[in-house]
Amino acid sequence: MINMWNDFANFILNEVDDKEYKIVEVGVGKFLEISEILSSKENITLIRTDINPKDSTVIKDDITKPNMKIYENTDLIYSIRPPSELQPYLVKLANKINAQLIIKPLTNEDLNTGKVKMKLKNFKKASFYCLR
Ligand SMILES: C[S@@+](CC[C@H](N)C(=O)[O-])C[C@H]1O[C@@H](n2cnc3c(N)ncnc32)[C@H](O)[C@@H]1O
Repeated sequence: MINMWNDFANFILNEVDDKEYKIVEVGVGKFLEISEILSSKENITLIRTDINPKDSTVIKDDITKPNMKIYENTDLIYSIRPPSELQPYLVKLANKINAQLIIKPLTNEDLNTGKVKMKLKNFKKASFYCLR
C-alpha cells in the first residue's frame, strides 16, 4: 500500500521535473501523504482544497462552483478517491484552465466523466486516470 502511494507521488514528480509547477489537490480530506511529498519540492506550489477543510492548510472550495482565483495558472489538478458525482466537475475545471488532471479512484472502477474518456495509467504499483 505504501509503495503504491509513493509510486503515485513519483509519477507526478516525474511529470513536473525541475519546472516551476502549480498543483492543486481537490477533496484532500485528511489524507495528506501525497501533498506532503509534493510540497517538499521547492519548485512545486501545492494547494489543497476541500469543501470541508480539516484545518487551515486546506482552502475551502466547492469544486461544483470553483473559485477560479484558486486555480489560476495551475498546471496539474489531482484528486484521490473523489465521489463519482464530483468527477465531471474536475474534468470541466481542468479543461477550462487547460491543466492536466489525474484521478485516483477508490478501486479501478470506471470514472463518471461522461463523454470524456480519461486514460488508465499504470505506473509501477499505482494505477490512476489521466485526462491528457
Ligand atoms: C471520499 S473523501 C476522499 C478524501 C481523501 N482524498 C482520501 O482519499 O482519503 C471525499 C472528499 O471530497 C470532499 N468533497 C465532497 N464534496 C466536495 C465538493 N463539492 N468540493 C470539494 N470537495 C468535496 C469531502 O469533504 C471529502 O474530504
